[in-house]
Amino acid sequence: MNTGLKVRVKTARGRTASSQRWLERQLNDPYVVKAKREGWRSRAAYKLIEIDEKFKLLKPGQRVVDLGAAPGGWSQVAARKVHSTPDRPLVVGIDYLEVDAIPGVIMLQKDFLDDDAPDALVAALGGHKVDLVLSDMAAPTTGHTPTDHLRIVHLCEVAAEFARDVLAPGGVFLAKVFRGGTEHTLLADLKRDFASIGHVKPPASRQESPELYVIARGFRGRSEAPVEAADETAATTMVADDERPADARTEDWGAEDMPAEDAGGWDPRAKARDD
Ligand SMILES: C[S@@+](CC[C@H](N)C(=O)[O-])C[C@H]1O[C@@H](n2cnc3c(N)ncnc32)[C@H](O)[C@@H]1O
Repeated sequence: MNTGLKVRVKTARGRTASSQRWLERQLNDPYVVKAKREGWRSRAAYKLIEIDEKFKLLKPGQRVVDLGAAPGGWSQVAARKVHSTPDRPLVVGIDYLEVDAIPGVIMLQKDFLDDDAPDALVAALGGHKVDLVLSDMAAPTTGHTPTDHLRIVHLCEVAAEFARDVLAPGGVFLAKVFRGGTEHTLLADLKRDFASIGHVKPPASRQESPELYVIARGFRGRSEAPVEAADETAATTMVADDERPADARTEDWGAEDMPAEDAGGWDPRAKARDD
């Protein structure tokens, strides 16, 4: 979609060159325009829509947890797809930022890393097992690359740990990671406890962003077996596209077209905003 009209932003006092570029990019981004028109809270909503179109994850009646939910795009999509209503809410979201109410979604304003967050999420869904744990969490960057990398990896690990506790058999874990940033141990854990794992980069995820999503389907239950034996296999399976099921190959969605600078590791330019 291209309107042909490029919006230019005048320099304003106090606006840095990078925030000026970001604003210009937002105003000219067809997904941003489309999200406004179609009533989604964020352009990120299309990432979940596209992933769901491909993998058919969200079905009526399923229970969903949305980690890092603000401003609410993914929760909106999930609520619509699972037919969640205010009378029978099937979606619970959490973010330390405030989120305007979404019909059919229970929203907790809380840090997911708080000790009591997992119980609060489960309690919000009446103690039932969950069909999908989604995480689009990204922490604000500090500018110190190793610290930022560790924080992102940590968020994903805690999310995966939570997913293993709350998912029903056959459940799905979908989480934002960064290229080069998914740790072998995490992948080995996922490989052991899920029938299939892969990385996906939906078209709505900007090519220049190092963001990817790890998708683990077919939860088999938490195993306490040591992960060491699975470690190498898991890492290879995730890295080598040709060893994955065709529907999980990243190149289908152009992840391999990412700039080389993004391929080696996490990129500190990727802010915790809506990439
Ligand atoms: C990219 S945004 C999510 C966008 C969302 N999926 C949507 O469609 O609107 C990432 C969110 O993760 C949240 N986040 C990061 N760390 C978190 C934590 N420890 N607990 C709760 N939320 C967190 C941030 O506040 C931010 O709102």
